Amino acid sequence: MASVELKVPDIGDFKEVEIIEVLVKAGDSVSVEQSLITVESDKASMEIPASIAGTIVEMKVTLGDKVSEGSVIAMIEAAARSTTAEPARSESKAVSSGAPSSGSATPQHPAATAELKEGSGRDPIAQGSPASVPVGAAHVSPIDETNVVKPHASPAVRMFARELGVDLTKVRGTGPKQRITMDDVRGYVKGVIASTAAPAAAGDGAALGLIPWPKVDFAKFGPIDPKPLSRIKKLSGANLHRNWVMIPHVTNNDEADITDLEAFRVSLNKESDQTGVKYTMLGFLIKAVVAALKKHPEFNASLDGDQLVYKQYYHIGFAADTPNGLVVPVLKDADKKGLSDIARETSELAKKARDGKLSPSDMQGGSFSISSLGGIGGTHFTPIINAPEVAILGVSKSYYKPVWNGKEFVPQLTLPLSLSYDHRVIDGAAAARFNNVLRSLLGDFRRAVL
Ligand code: COA
Repeated sequence: MASVELKVPDIGDFKEVEIIEVLVKAGDSVSVEQSLITVESDKASMEIPASIAGTIVEMKVTLGDKVSEGSVIAMIEAAARSTTAEPARSESKAVSSGAPSSGSATPQHPAATAELKEGSGRDPIAQGSPASVPVGAAHVSPIDETNVVKPHASPAVRMFARELGVDLTKVRGTGPKQRITMDDVRGYVKGVIASTAAPAAAGDGAALGLIPWPKVDFAKFGPIDPKPLSRIKKLSGANLHRNWVMIPHVTNNDEADITDLEAFRVSLNKESDQTGVKYTMLGFLIKAVVAALKKHPEFNASLDGDQLVYKQYYHIGFAADTPNGLVVPVLKDADKKGLSDIARETSELAKKARDGKLSPSDMQGGSFSISSLGGIGGTHFTPIINAPEVAILGVSKSYYKPVWNGKEFVPQLTLPLSLSYDHRVIDGAAAARFNNVLRSLLGDFRRAVL
């Protein structure tokens, strides 16, 4: 039997709309009205169903393609006694993006009918050539999303969610414009199952018994410009969220006198003009941190169930700000390196980070991290621990403050330190002691060689 083209029907004013879901593939048997693809415009999404039953011979579109009326979606070999979809104009129903309806999978939503212009009412079979069949001309199912405070998902995803008993208001969408995809629903279900086994591990507000995240149609209040999060932001965001929720953080703030150290750093930089090595505060901090970790090994450890795994290596991660988001390259074996090697390697790693060229191994194996915002600004902050590490040192911008030396006030260059620690592993007293060691080393760097 010859195959025929399944084409996009008259979908009103919608032209060059993006395919956001492809719901069938070559070899699939489809029935009349079974959805083939979902397309989305600025204002609405709609599923385009098959107007005849048969077997898909070849898909002519892929995800992300732009289609308009007449674009060929697929080639289909019609079933022997295929029925065609009723082309009656009155049946072109708008679909609500709201809560599931107990009856039809495509509940009516009068507002959406105006949103999406109805089909021309042409009988696709009668008007098209025999080998050119517009699909579902009368059954395009638009979703009115102009007033979205409801979950943003296609009818197929809604139906899938209903079958699983999933409340879509609790599912976070990762598709374009926060659209909820099939995978988001699957991920949500997996999350709920996992949280039943290990409630503390759940990363979802609903699983924690929290109310759903507010969904607001920001466009109601003014112009907006939604942009997808970068891949790095998505990854680091998920990690930061887990770490923030699962680790009982406490931050101990302190200050170090770096007046002499800064003078030393400046003189080193003058000497190293020929070698090209630039000494920043980061290198001194790494050295000081390694010395403090040796005195307080529980800061260079990880929790593994009931065990605390003490590491005998000193791999120091440092947060690097890049155009695409935060990454944490790791300086390996910092205890075995001199200041100039540390300065050179950290600057190379920071450059690789900014150029997006870090390899996975450049970011693995850290035993303690430093987050230095000193080159940017701020007084103190609360860095989030980089699990499975148990502590992180935040450093802010140094500033001069007057300090009484017993006779007079003298200017002291002061470096703000913010040590966040996992309170399951580290007590407040230990954190204060760790900061004391740092202060003492940074205040008199000769101690770092002891
Ligand atoms: N106080 C005052 N100045 C400081 C400072 C401090 N604590 N730390 C650095 N500076 C100065 C440097 O001396 C340098 O000045 P100069 O150019 O006049 O010599 C300038 O700030 C820029 O230094 P920077 O390029 O930041 O070098 P660095 O070695 O100190 O830091 C990185 C390297 C990768 C850590 C840094 O570039 C970075 O990305 N920081 C952001 C980290 C971040 O986003 N953390 C937040 C995580 S939540």
